[in-house]
Amino acid sequence: MSKTHKIAVLAGDGIGPEVVREGLRVLHAASEKYGFSCALTDLPYGTDHWLATGGEDGGEIFPDEAFVRTQEHDALLLGAIGDPRAPIGLIERGVIGKLRWEGGLYINLRPIQLYDERWCPLKDKKPADVDMVIVRENTEDAYVFPPVFEDKGGPNEVASQPMKYTRAGTERVIRYAFELAMTRPRRQLTLIDKANAVRAQDIYTRVFEEVSKDYPDVKTDHAYIDAACMWMVKNPEWFDVAVTTNLFGDIITDLGAMVQGGMGVAASGNINPGHFSLFEPIHGSMPKATGKNTANPVATINAVAMMLEHLGEREASIAVETAVRELLCSDQIEGLKAGVHSTTEWGDMVLDRLGF
Ligand code: IPM
Ligand code: MG
Repeated sequence: MSKTHKIAVLAGDGIGPEVVREGLRVLHAASEKYGFSCALTDLPYGTDHWLATGGEDGGEIFPDEAFVRTQEHDALLLGAIGDPRAPIGLIERGVIGKLRWEGGLYINLRPIQLYDERWCPLKDKKPADVDMVIVRENTEDAYVFPPVFEDKGGPNEVASQPMKYTRAGTERVIRYAFELAMTRPRRQLTLIDKANAVRAQDIYTRVFEEVSKDYPDVKTDHAYIDAACMWMVKNPEWFDVAVTTNLFGDIITDLGAMVQGGMGVAASGNINPGHFSLFEPIHGSMPKATGKNTANPVATINAVAMMLEHLGEREASIAVETAVRELLCSDQIEGLKAGVHSTTEWGDMVLDRLGF
Protein backbone atom coordinates (compact mmCIF):
# COMPACT_ATOMS: atom_id res chain seq x y z
CA MET A 1 0.00 0.00 0.00
CA SER A 2 1.27 3.43 -0.82
CA LYS A 3 2.20 5.86 1.88
CA THR A 4 -0.10 8.75 2.74
CA HIS A 5 1.43 12.02 3.90
CA LYS A 6 -0.70 14.40 5.94
CA ILE A 7 -0.12 17.87 4.59
CA ALA A 8 -1.64 21.11 5.82
CA VAL A 9 -1.96 23.85 3.22
CA LEU A 10 -2.06 27.49 4.21
CA ALA A 11 -2.26 29.53 1.02
CA GLY A 12 -2.59 32.80 2.95
CA ASP A 13 -2.61 36.32 1.55
CA GLY A 14 -2.04 38.05 -1.79
CA ILE A 15 -0.44 35.83 -4.39
CA GLY A 16 -0.25 32.95 -1.87
CA PRO A 17 -3.25 31.04 -3.28
CA GLU A 18 -1.98 31.32 -6.87
CA VAL A 19 1.53 30.06 -6.21
CA VAL A 20 0.26 27.33 -3.88
CA ARG A 21 -2.18 26.19 -6.59
CA GLU A 22 0.77 25.52 -8.92
CA GLY A 23 2.81 23.94 -6.11
CA LEU A 24 -0.03 21.53 -5.44
CA ARG A 25 -0.35 20.59 -9.11
CA VAL A 26 3.30 19.59 -9.01
CA LEU A 27 2.82 17.74 -5.70
CA HIS A 28 -0.10 15.74 -7.18
CA ALA A 29 1.87 14.91 -10.30
CA ALA A 30 4.85 13.76 -8.23
CA SER A 31 2.63 11.64 -5.98
CA GLU A 32 1.07 9.93 -9.00
CA LYS A 33 4.42 9.27 -10.60
CA TYR A 34 6.22 8.10 -7.46
CA GLY A 35 3.34 6.17 -5.87
CA PHE A 36 2.44 7.95 -2.66
CA SER A 37 -0.59 9.94 -1.66
CA CYS A 38 -1.20 13.17 0.18
CA ALA A 39 -4.11 13.93 2.49
CA LEU A 40 -4.47 17.69 2.38
CA THR A 41 -6.03 19.92 5.02
CA ASP A 42 -6.77 23.48 3.90
CA LEU A 43 -6.24 26.15 6.50
CA PRO A 44 -8.16 29.39 5.88
CA TYR A 45 -5.93 31.71 7.95
CA GLY A 46 -4.57 34.99 6.75
CA THR A 47 -5.77 38.58 6.44
CA ASP A 48 -9.04 37.83 4.60
CA HIS A 49 -10.03 35.36 7.31
CA TRP A 50 -9.11 37.83 10.04
CA LEU A 51 -11.19 40.56 8.38
CA ALA A 52 -14.13 38.22 7.67
CA THR A 53 -14.22 37.13 11.32
CA GLY A 54 -14.22 40.65 12.74
CA GLY A 55 -10.80 42.19 12.04
CA GLU A 56 -9.92 44.70 14.75
CA ASP A 57 -13.02 43.57 16.68
CA GLY A 58 -11.63 40.19 17.69
CA GLY A 59 -10.99 38.65 14.26
CA GLU A 60 -9.45 35.19 14.23
CA ILE A 61 -5.74 34.98 13.46
CA PHE A 62 -4.80 31.37 14.20
CA PRO A 63 -6.84 29.73 16.95
CA ASP A 64 -4.99 27.42 19.35
CA GLU A 65 -7.12 24.33 18.53
CA ALA A 66 -6.36 24.76 14.82
CA PHE A 67 -2.69 25.25 15.58
CA VAL A 68 -2.62 22.04 17.65
CA ARG A 69 -4.36 20.08 14.89
CA THR A 70 -1.86 21.43 12.36
CA GLN A 71 0.94 19.89 14.43
CA GLU A 72 -0.55 16.44 13.76
CA HIS A 73 0.40 16.76 10.08
CA ASP A 74 3.71 15.72 8.56
CA ALA A 75 4.23 19.09 6.91
CA LEU A 76 2.66 22.38 5.98
CA LEU A 77 2.90 24.19 2.65
CA LEU A 78 2.54 27.94 3.07
CA GLY A 79 1.99 30.54 0.35
CA ALA A 80 2.42 34.02 1.81
CA ILE A 81 1.27 36.09 4.75
CA GLY A 82 1.09 39.88 4.90
CA ASP A 83 -1.45 42.45 3.78
CA PRO A 84 -1.60 46.23 4.21
CA ARG A 85 -5.22 46.00 5.44
CA ALA A 86 -4.00 44.56 8.74
CA PRO A 87 -1.77 46.27 11.31
CA ILE A 88 1.93 45.79 10.56
CA GLY A 89 3.14 42.37 11.63
CA LEU A 90 -0.10 41.23 13.29
CA ILE A 91 -0.94 38.37 10.95
CA GLU A 92 2.71 37.55 10.15
CA ARG A 93 3.55 37.12 13.84
CA GLY A 94 0.24 35.40 14.60
CA VAL A 95 0.50 32.82 11.82
CA ILE A 96 4.11 32.33 10.63
CA GLY A 97 5.56 33.39 13.98
CA LYS A 98 3.29 31.07 15.94
CA LEU A 99 4.06 28.14 13.67
CA ARG A 100 7.81 28.74 13.89
CA TRP A 101 8.17 29.65 17.56
CA GLU A 102 5.44 27.61 19.25
CA GLY A 103 5.89 24.78 16.75
CA GLY A 104 9.61 24.54 17.54
CA LEU A 105 10.65 24.83 13.89
CA TYR A 106 14.15 25.79 14.87
CA ILE A 107 15.88 25.58 11.51
CA ASN A 108 15.13 27.97 8.69
CA LEU A 109 16.88 26.35 5.78
CA ARG A 110 17.50 28.52 2.76
CA PRO A 111 19.33 27.00 -0.17
CA ILE A 112 20.80 29.55 -2.57
CA GLN A 113 21.62 28.05 -5.90
CA LEU A 114 22.06 29.73 -9.24
CA TYR A 115 20.71 27.46 -11.97
CA ASP A 116 21.76 29.47 -14.96
CA GLU A 117 24.16 32.37 -15.48
CA ARG A 118 21.41 34.39 -17.19
CA TRP A 119 19.53 34.81 -13.88
CA CYS A 120 22.40 36.22 -11.84
CA PRO A 121 22.58 40.01 -11.50
CA LEU A 122 26.30 39.75 -10.68
CA LYS A 123 28.75 40.08 -13.52
CA ASP A 124 30.63 36.93 -14.52
CA LYS A 125 29.18 34.70 -11.78
CA LYS A 126 28.38 31.16 -12.85
CA PRO A 127 26.22 28.45 -11.26
CA ALA A 128 29.35 26.98 -9.64
CA ASP A 129 29.92 30.33 -7.88
CA VAL A 130 26.51 30.48 -6.24
CA ASP A 131 25.79 27.24 -4.42
CA MET A 132 25.28 27.64 -0.70
CA VAL A 133 22.83 26.97 2.08
CA ILE A 134 22.07 29.48 4.81
CA VAL A 135 20.95 27.92 8.07
CA ARG A 136 18.98 30.61 9.86
CA GLU A 137 18.03 30.16 13.51
CA ASN A 138 14.25 30.34 13.61
CA THR A 139 12.96 30.47 17.20
CA GLU A 140 14.97 33.12 19.07
CA ASP A 141 16.45 36.60 18.71
CA ALA A 142 14.55 39.90 18.55
CA TYR A 143 11.69 38.18 16.72
CA VAL A 144 10.13 36.23 19.54
CA PHE A 145 9.69 38.72 22.34
CA PRO A 146 6.85 41.20 22.52
CA PRO A 147 7.99 44.77 22.02
CA VAL A 148 7.97 47.09 25.01
CA PHE A 149 7.11 50.76 24.53
CA GLU A 150 7.62 53.03 27.50
CA ASP A 151 6.03 56.47 27.34
CA LYS A 152 4.61 55.55 23.92
CA GLY A 153 4.29 58.64 21.74
CA GLY A 154 5.82 60.78 24.48
CA PRO A 155 9.06 62.76 24.28
CA ASN A 156 10.89 60.23 26.44
CA GLU A 157 9.68 57.17 24.59
CA VAL A 158 11.85 54.08 24.83
CA ALA A 159 11.10 51.07 22.63
CA SER A 160 12.79 47.72 23.09
CA GLN A 161 12.68 44.11 21.96
CA PRO A 162 15.58 42.00 23.18
CA MET A 163 18.01 39.99 21.10
CA LYS A 164 18.10 36.96 23.38
CA TYR A 165 19.85 33.66 22.70
CA THR A 166 19.79 30.46 24.73
CA ARG A 167 22.59 27.92 24.79
CA ALA A 168 20.17 25.14 23.78
CA GLY A 169 18.78 27.21 20.89
CA THR A 170 22.23 28.22 19.73
CA GLU A 171 23.71 24.76 19.99
CA ARG A 172 20.98 22.92 18.09
CA VAL A 173 21.12 25.22 15.08
CA ILE A 174 24.92 25.20 14.98
CA ARG A 175 25.01 21.41 15.27
CA TYR A 176 22.48 21.08 12.45
CA ALA A 177 24.67 23.33 10.29
CA PHE A 178 27.77 21.23 10.97
CA GLU A 179 25.84 18.05 10.12
CA LEU A 180 24.67 19.67 6.89
CA ALA A 181 28.19 20.81 6.01
CA MET A 182 29.34 17.18 6.42
CA THR A 183 26.95 16.10 3.65
CA ARG A 184 28.34 18.58 1.12
CA PRO A 185 31.52 18.10 -0.91
CA ARG A 186 33.26 21.26 0.32
CA ARG A 187 32.49 20.67 3.99
CA GLN A 188 32.79 24.31 4.83
CA LEU A 189 30.80 26.22 7.44
CA THR A 190 30.80 29.97 8.02
CA LEU A 191 29.44 31.50 11.20
CA ILE A 192 27.80 34.86 10.49
CA ASP A 193 27.14 37.18 13.42
CA LYS A 194 27.84 40.66 14.72
CA ALA A 195 29.58 39.68 17.93
CA ASN A 196 31.89 42.69 17.72
CA ALA A 197 28.95 45.03 18.29
CA VAL A 198 26.21 42.84 19.80
CA ARG A 199 28.31 41.25 22.51
CA ALA A 200 25.45 38.93 23.50
CA GLN A 201 26.31 37.06 20.32
CA ASP A 202 29.48 35.94 22.00
CA ILE A 203 27.35 32.89 22.79
CA TYR A 204 27.45 32.06 19.06
CA THR A 205 31.23 32.52 18.99
CA ARG A 206 31.75 30.16 21.94
CA VAL A 207 29.19 27.50 21.06
CA PHE A 208 30.41 27.39 17.44
CA GLU A 209 33.96 26.85 18.68
CA GLU A 210 32.85 24.08 21.08
CA VAL A 211 30.67 22.23 18.57
CA SER A 212 33.37 22.47 15.88
CA LYS A 213 35.49 20.07 17.96
CA ASP A 214 33.00 17.29 17.15
CA TYR A 215 33.42 17.97 13.42
CA PRO A 216 37.15 18.06 12.68
CA ASP A 217 36.46 17.44 8.98
CA VAL A 218 34.50 20.64 8.58
CA LYS A 219 36.50 23.69 7.59
CA THR A 220 35.22 26.62 9.63
CA ASP A 221 35.16 30.29 8.87
CA HIS A 222 33.65 33.45 10.33
CA ALA A 223 32.19 36.68 8.94
CA TYR A 224 30.41 39.61 10.53
CA ILE A 225 27.02 40.17 8.97
CA ASP A 226 27.98 43.44 7.29
CA ALA A 227 31.03 41.88 5.66
CA ALA A 228 29.05 38.74 4.80
CA CYS A 229 26.57 40.90 2.83
CA MET A 230 29.46 42.43 0.95
CA TRP A 231 31.00 39.03 0.18
CA MET A 232 27.68 37.57 -0.87
CA VAL A 233 27.76 40.08 -3.72
CA LYS A 234 31.51 40.24 -4.35
CA ASN A 235 32.51 36.62 -3.81
CA PRO A 236 29.47 34.37 -3.35
CA GLU A 237 31.73 31.41 -4.20
CA TRP A 238 33.29 31.76 -0.75
CA PHE A 239 30.17 30.37 0.90
CA ASP A 240 29.16 26.75 1.22
CA VAL A 241 27.04 26.39 4.39
CA ALA A 242 26.56 29.38 6.68
CA VAL A 243 24.82 29.54 10.03
CA THR A 244 23.41 32.72 11.53
CA THR A 245 20.90 34.26 13.89
CA ASN A 246 17.23 34.78 13.10
CA LEU A 247 17.28 38.47 12.19
CA PHE A 248 20.53 38.44 10.24
CA GLY A 249 19.39 35.26 8.49
CA ASP A 250 16.21 37.00 7.41
CA ILE A 251 18.19 39.82 5.85
CA ILE A 252 21.02 37.96 4.18
CA THR A 253 18.72 35.35 2.63
CA ASP A 254 16.79 38.03 0.74
CA LEU A 255 20.14 39.19 -0.62
CA GLY A 256 20.94 35.57 -1.44
CA ALA A 257 17.61 35.21 -3.24
CA MET A 258 18.55 38.06 -5.56
CA VAL A 259 21.93 36.49 -6.28
CA GLN A 260 20.24 33.23 -7.30
CA GLY A 261 17.80 34.92 -9.65
CA GLY A 262 15.23 36.69 -7.49
CA MET A 263 12.30 36.08 -5.21
CA GLY A 264 10.61 34.05 -7.90
CA VAL A 265 12.83 31.06 -7.20
CA ALA A 266 13.92 31.18 -3.54
CA ALA A 267 12.38 28.55 -1.25
CA SER A 268 12.81 27.72 2.40
CA GLY A 269 12.10 25.05 4.95
CA ASN A 270 11.15 25.79 8.56
CA ILE A 271 12.30 22.55 10.05
CA ASN A 272 12.11 20.56 13.24
CA PRO A 273 14.14 17.55 12.07
CA GLY A 274 12.03 14.39 11.98
CA HIS A 275 8.87 16.25 13.00
CA PHE A 276 6.18 18.52 11.60
CA SER A 277 7.89 21.12 9.41
CA LEU A 278 6.80 24.00 7.19
CA PHE A 279 7.85 24.83 3.63
CA GLU A 280 7.34 28.14 1.88
CA PRO A 281 8.62 30.47 -0.80
CA ILE A 282 10.65 33.22 0.85
CA HIS A 283 8.85 35.98 -1.05
CA GLY A 284 5.98 37.92 0.45
CA SER A 285 2.35 38.29 -0.59
CA MET A 286 2.84 40.91 -3.35
CA PRO A 287 -0.62 42.44 -2.72
CA LYS A 288 -0.61 44.44 -5.97
CA ALA A 289 -0.22 41.30 -8.06
CA THR A 290 -3.04 39.42 -6.33
CA GLY A 291 -5.30 37.45 -8.64
CA LYS A 292 -3.44 38.49 -11.79
CA ASN A 293 -1.85 35.10 -12.49
CA THR A 294 1.52 36.83 -12.96
CA ALA A 295 3.44 35.65 -9.88
CA ASN A 296 6.28 33.21 -10.43
CA PRO A 297 5.40 29.99 -8.56
CA VAL A 298 8.85 28.41 -8.95
CA ALA A 299 9.80 29.32 -5.37
CA THR A 300 6.74 27.45 -4.12
CA ILE A 301 7.50 24.52 -6.42
CA ASN A 302 11.04 24.47 -5.00
CA ALA A 303 9.47 24.52 -1.52
CA VAL A 304 7.43 21.47 -2.56
CA ALA A 305 10.70 19.75 -3.56
CA MET A 306 12.13 20.52 -0.11
CA MET A 307 8.94 19.23 1.52
CA LEU A 308 9.16 15.98 -0.46
CA GLU A 309 12.69 15.46 0.82
CA HIS A 310 11.44 16.01 4.38
CA LEU A 311 8.63 13.49 3.80
CA GLY A 312 11.16 10.88 2.76
CA GLU A 313 10.12 11.03 -0.91
CA ARG A 314 13.66 11.53 -2.09
CA GLU A 315 13.19 10.36 -5.67
CA ALA A 316 10.19 12.64 -6.15
CA SER A 317 12.07 15.53 -4.58
CA ILE A 318 15.02 15.11 -6.92
CA ALA A 319 12.67 14.78 -9.90
CA VAL A 320 10.94 18.09 -9.10
CA GLU A 321 14.24 19.82 -8.42
CA THR A 322 15.68 18.50 -11.68
CA ALA A 323 12.58 19.53 -13.63
CA VAL A 324 12.93 23.08 -12.31
CA ARG A 325 16.67 23.19 -12.91
CA GLU A 326 16.37 21.94 -16.50
CA LEU A 327 13.54 24.33 -17.19
CA LEU A 328 15.45 27.32 -15.84
CA CYS A 329 18.47 26.38 -17.92
CA SER A 330 16.40 26.04 -21.10
CA ASP A 331 15.63 28.57 -23.83
CA GLN A 332 11.96 28.13 -23.02
CA ILE A 333 12.38 30.65 -20.20
CA GLU A 334 12.52 34.33 -21.06
CA GLY A 335 12.73 35.69 -17.54
CA LEU A 336 11.96 34.96 -13.91
CA LYS A 337 10.24 38.22 -13.04
CA ALA A 338 6.51 38.29 -12.40
CA GLY A 339 4.51 38.41 -15.61
CA VAL A 340 7.17 37.23 -18.06
CA HIS A 341 5.50 33.83 -17.91
CA SER A 342 2.12 33.50 -16.24
CA THR A 343 1.72 31.58 -12.98
CA THR A 344 -0.22 28.83 -14.77
CA GLU A 345 2.28 28.68 -17.61
CA TRP A 346 5.08 28.06 -15.10
CA GLY A 347 3.10 25.20 -13.59
CA ASP A 348 2.45 23.75 -17.05
CA MET A 349 6.13 23.94 -17.98
CA VAL A 350 7.27 22.18 -14.79
CA LEU A 351 4.62 19.48 -15.20
CA ASP A 352 5.70 19.03 -18.79
CA ARG A 353 9.28 18.39 -17.66
CA LEU A 354 7.98 15.91 -15.09
CA GLY A 355 6.31 14.03 -17.95
CA PHE A 356 2.70 15.14 -17.38
C1 IPM B 1 10.66 35.59 6.11
C2 IPM B 1 9.75 36.77 6.29
C3 IPM B 1 9.26 36.81 7.73
C4 IPM B 1 10.49 36.94 8.61
C5 IPM B 1 8.21 37.91 7.99
C6 IPM B 1 6.99 37.73 7.13
C7 IPM B 1 7.83 38.00 9.44
O1 IPM B 1 10.41 37.94 5.93
O2 IPM B 1 10.20 34.45 6.27
O3 IPM B 1 11.84 35.79 5.80
O4 IPM B 1 10.94 38.06 8.86
O5 IPM B 1 10.98 35.93 9.07
MG1 MG C 1 12.36 37.64 5.17
